[in-house]
Amino acid sequence: MLTVAMCMALVACLQAQELQGHVSVILLGATGDLAKKYLWQGLFQLYLDEVGKGYSFSFHGAALTSTKQGQEFITKVLESLSCPEDMVPRRCAELRGQFQQLSQYRRLRTNEDYMALSKDIEAQLEHKGLREAGRVFYFSVPPFAYAGIARSINSSCRPGPGAWLRVVLEKPFGHDHLSAQQLATELGSFFQEEEMYRVDHYLGKQAVAQILPFRDQNRQALDGLWNRHHVERVEIIMKETVDAGGRTSFYEEYGVIRDVLQNHLTEVLTLVAMELPYNVSSSEAVLQHKLQAFRALRGLQKGSAVLGQYQAYGEQVRREQQKPDSFHSLTPTFAGILVHVDNLRWEGVPFFLMSGKAMDERVGYVRILFRNQAYCAQNEKRWVADQSQCLPRQIVFYIGHGELGSPAVLVSRNLFRPSLPSESWKEVEGRPGLHLFGRPLSDYYAYSPVREQDAYSVLMSHIFHGRKDSFITTENLLASWVFWTPLLDSLAHEVPRLYPGGAESGHLLDFEFSGTQLRFSRQQLEQLVPGPGSAPKPSDFQVLRAKYRESPLISAWPEELIAKLADDIEATAVRAVRRFGEFHLALSGGSSPVPLLQQLATRHYGFPWAHTHLWLVDERCVPLRDPESNFQGLQAHLLQHVRVPHYNVHPMPVHLHQRLCAEEDRGAQMYASEISALVTNSSFDLVLLGMGTDGHTASLFPQSPAGLEGTQPVVLTRSPSKPHQRMSLSLPLINRARKVAVLVMGRLKREITMLVSRVGHEPKKWPISGVLPSSGQLVWYMDYEAFLG
Ligand code: BG6
Repeated sequence: MLTVAMCMALVACLQAQELQGHVSVILLGATGDLAKKYLWQGLFQLYLDEVGKGYSFSFHGAALTSTKQGQEFITKVLESLSCPEDMVPRRCAELRGQFQQLSQYRRLRTNEDYMALSKDIEAQLEHKGLREAGRVFYFSVPPFAYAGIARSINSSCRPGPGAWLRVVLEKPFGHDHLSAQQLATELGSFFQEEEMYRVDHYLGKQAVAQILPFRDQNRQALDGLWNRHHVERVEIIMKETVDAGGRTSFYEEYGVIRDVLQNHLTEVLTLVAMELPYNVSSSEAVLQHKLQAFRALRGLQKGSAVLGQYQAYGEQVRREQQKPDSFHSLTPTFAGILVHVDNLRWEGVPFFLMSGKAMDERVGYVRILFRNQAYCAQNEKRWVADQSQCLPRQIVFYIGHGELGSPAVLVSRNLFRPSLPSESWKEVEGRPGLHLFGRPLSDYYAYSPVREQDAYSVLMSHIFHGRKDSFITTENLLASWVFWTPLLDSLAHEVPRLYPGGAESGHLLDFEFSGTQLRFSRQQLEQLVPGPGSAPKPSDFQVLRAKYRESPLISAWPEELIAKLADDIEATAVRAVRRFGEFHLALSGGSSPVPLLQQLATRHYGFPWAHTHLWLVDERCVPLRDPESNFQGLQAHLLQHVRVPHYNVHPMPVHLHQRLCAEEDRGAQMYASEISALVTNSSFDLVLLGMGTDGHTASLFPQSPAGLEGTQPVVLTRSPSKPHQRMSLSLPLINRARKVAVLVMGRLKREITMLVSRVGHEPKKWPISGVLPSSGQLVWYMDYEAFLG
């Protein structure tokens, strides 16, 4: 039957032109979901595009399923194949019939099965006197099956001399750099680099595939614009409304960064950021330039990312994978990433990459927003879209879905009229009322494909024509993993922010950047205690408030906790300055306050720094410039960023007469005098403390009596850990403060937090238990790990 069909289809070709050879396509995993949804249709499209151009084809659907079942499956799928809208039904039916006859199912399990397949192909070629052009093996199978299949193809199913072999591979291509490298090495032992076509189906999306040709065809207009002087930011976005339900076993292992950002969005990023090769149709040049773009990416840090997880995900994982109720997944289903490209073209331009499941809409786009340097003298009502330099200027490659509902290329009319190939892109008809990226559609030159094509159909054609630039080479794959793996490692234990999903997420997932850091814009919302009802709203998420040792306790995830504490400090400062004209703040050292200082330094523009006095709660007896010095921390994380008058900064005098903390130098007494001279009643407006795992606070340690009681406001003490010598405010002085805030963060504090919650006033054993302002207020700030473990 296959032979007869091949002959029939060939008659036309032979009549039309010289025969180029025969191509066998073997679809592995032919009964799977991807094959059913996209691949068979892609193969049919390939046939439609190529029939009559000199090649003959045969299509072999293969899987592990029995021949009978497999053939039944395929028959059904083939019946549902569709033709382009502009093809007359009779022609469509005719070609579909030919395609059906050229397609057969066969079970491929053992090496012998592959040998038999090869023999059958050869026999048919010989029988018909056809020359073999090549074989395509499309791997639509899970990665664990790759090696076995690859070995069989290599040993038993390669085409004869002069014909090509192309193996097409579907992601995932590893889980991190190491595993990707191992997989690549393994595949490399069976196939040559030029034989491998790793698919990233986003490269087949029409708007994505248009990025380089667009840059090329509009070189003249873009030459001066496509750089840091003109581009304000680039957004590469893929939002989905679907969630990960039904595939949590895959998703738990991968999460949104591996699933979508490492591949789809990174590919798009490189197409935007890379230098444009002189000849964009040279695969080799494109791939080389892409690789250079990877090399220019600045390494990511933990602070480059914000993570989220839709609320129902945890329950889906527990249900689908039979996990106990106590199981909590940390897998992100949403990520926003800030990327910088360190080269002359892009230095300083933020590239936002963002993707999420269970979002409010399905849409994908790349948006290049240009800076606006103009001032327009006319009233806004008179601004004309193609003339006003004050309207937003942007180029958008609209990948699909969303308000527009189809792929498109949009260029603001005040930029330039773009040139697109008229045989494949047409101007979009006006849609009154439709707004995109803040502007009516009429503000853009807007183009959409003449014929919308599925990404897999586009890629099938590129495989057939050997267009390697639409695929991922081993070098590019590894470069991408080199970029992502350190971030993935550093985020492995991060707790993603929960979001309700859909429109209910409100502004919970909005994020913004400051310098190289990305953060959620809304800091005060918290999720530990979702409100009642099945569909919680953002307003249900609160910072947890309770009591601890009879005093108010505020608990939240670290980020929110720090933001809350910083807000409270600013509010206290503003009140103090309003009432007394100045604000006296005493700060502890160590690592816990660092994010707080950074927060105050970068986000509190209304803070009355000019009227703030900064004091130290304690100090290590080292020179002030020593990295161990608490003052050094204050300097690095706060003072160098804000404008506190120098005479308002009060380091502890630990270094006098060229020695450190000598009793005779009376440094502690000097500090006490300074406090008493400047701080009314020696009563600080706010003292920030921490709590050590042994219950120490400031530099007041268990079993060391100095500073726990008595009249000395400032004391020299001894720490069990290095550097041993310390200077510290005493408990009596701390307790004179108007307000004391104790910041406790991290799992390591869990035990002491529990213990201290139960003990009474025993400062000799646990100095922290002696903190109780005589007429001021004490507030505990604990993150969930410290408070709940
Ligand atoms: C796949 C991801 O690669 O891309 C899926 O594994 C995601 O999680 C899909 O849903 C999105 O593709 P598209 O073509 O629907 O945008």
